[in-house]
Amino acid sequence: MRLVPGSDRCRLLLAIGSTLAVVLALGWMWWSSLLPDTYDLAEMGYADHGGGPVPSAMAGHGHGTAVADLVEARSGPPDREVTLTVRDDGERITVNGATPGPTLRFDRGDLVEVTLVNDNLADGTTLHWHGLDVPNAVDGVAGLTQDAVMPRESFVYRFVADQTGTYWYHSHQLSHEQVRRGLLGAVVVEDAPERDVLAVLHQYDAVPTLDGAADTTVAPAEPGDTVRVRVVNTDNALTALWVTGAPYQVIAVDGTDLHGPTPVAAHAFVVTAGGRADVRITVPAGGARIDFGGTTALVLGDDPARGSTPPQPTGFLDLLSYGTPSDPGLDASDPDRTFDYRIGRRLGLLDGMPGRWWTINGHLFPNVPMFIVEEGDVVVMRIENHSGESHPMHLHGHHALVLSRDGKDASGSPWWVDSLEVAVGEEYEIAFVADNPGIWMDHCHNLPHASEGLAAHMMYAGVTSSFRIGGHDDNHPE
Ligand code: C2O
Ligand code: CU
Repeated sequence: MRLVPGSDRCRLLLAIGSTLAVVLALGWMWWSSLLPDTYDLAEMGYADHGGGPVPSAMAGHGHGTAVADLVEARSGPPDREVTLTVRDDGERITVNGATPGPTLRFDRGDLVEVTLVNDNLADGTTLHWHGLDVPNAVDGVAGLTQDAVMPRESFVYRFVADQTGTYWYHSHQLSHEQVRRGLLGAVVVEDAPERDVLAVLHQYDAVPTLDGAADTTVAPAEPGDTVRVRVVNTDNALTALWVTGAPYQVIAVDGTDLHGPTPVAAHAFVVTAGGRADVRITVPAGGARIDFGGTTALVLGDDPARGSTPPQPTGFLDLLSYGTPSDPGLDASDPDRTFDYRIGRRLGLLDGMPGRWWTINGHLFPNVPMFIVEEGDVVVMRIENHSGESHPMHLHGHHALVLSRDGKDASGSPWWVDSLEVAVGEEYEIAFVADNPGIWMDHCHNLPHASEGLAAHMMYAGVTSSFRIGGHDDNHPE
């Protein structure tokens, strides 16, 4: 066979050749995007040192501490023991027979032991203590800090509840499914008991509920009563709240009290997905009500709207300038490391599936950054959202101080978060101290987004992993 340039046969062969090259290239891309059945998260992606020194413990010296050994240091018998039994009833997943599960109330400083019992969840389960900066080994992330707890197995979470405020627990095994189906509950840590009402928001099969009830919940209250409403947003999207009948104060966010909160009227307030807000209301003669997204409501005493839904105010309270400044106890002017967490979106393959997937600093999961820190580092993180959708970003094990948004410095109360709504086009700068060794998730709390790859991790130098994604317990944290 002789190839004559420009002949039909030559063109045909060239066409076949280039088609083959494209197919091979696509095949390679597909193959290389496949996630192994089991892998060590700490070995995925690439190290990002945030402009700080490359720790010597990473260079192969040092013995390191395993995640599983990063347990509560306090010994002795617990002050509080709780058993939480989770059960799949076919429709919902309950905790001790209910969803939301029981509210766990602790006194600050309690040494707590919670025993998780998996009755019949075939996929296994865990409990994560959202917002409580517990030791890494009890953070409850399947495949990272423990193995999923299989049916008829149990796991003990032992930690000191040393942060006051409103928190919540939820599964971190197949969390996008198990949380949606009800595996969640609130945690309240107090210095002294106070009149409060829980408002745990959750959508069951797309029906918004407040403490499991659709529509309106009435809490008995007398005129003059001051009530702390603890709002917990367990859904995948933010929710707006607004108050009718009385002004309100936002006195705490994500478990941390705000400084100098002023009365708010005629403004709505946004509660981030995964986030909490404590709202204080003094009940007037005609009663007060809080509406959540226009779908559920909490009435304190009489209903000032007499059953109708007051329209949402057009303005929003902005925490960037709410309250008055005070010393946050963190100087971020000369950080040890500065990380970028740029969220984007592009066409690509995720575990062999074509789609428009989230990117972190331009990379698709699992080739995303592993943020490396050393204990004691002051860390600044710049979160930018260029992805076309809003993302509630959640860093485990730490609380971060909001420094600025879109270049504008925070000017109100110190604003500490564990869950931060980063809207389309926004750029936040936050800072925190690396004071809780371990390997920690840093992900979007719109849990389907996390399962679509919007999840990175932060690892302390010298910490080694103890668990694997997949494997015999089929660990799948998202
Ligand atoms: Cu509320 Cu990674 O979790
Ligand atoms: Cu998201």
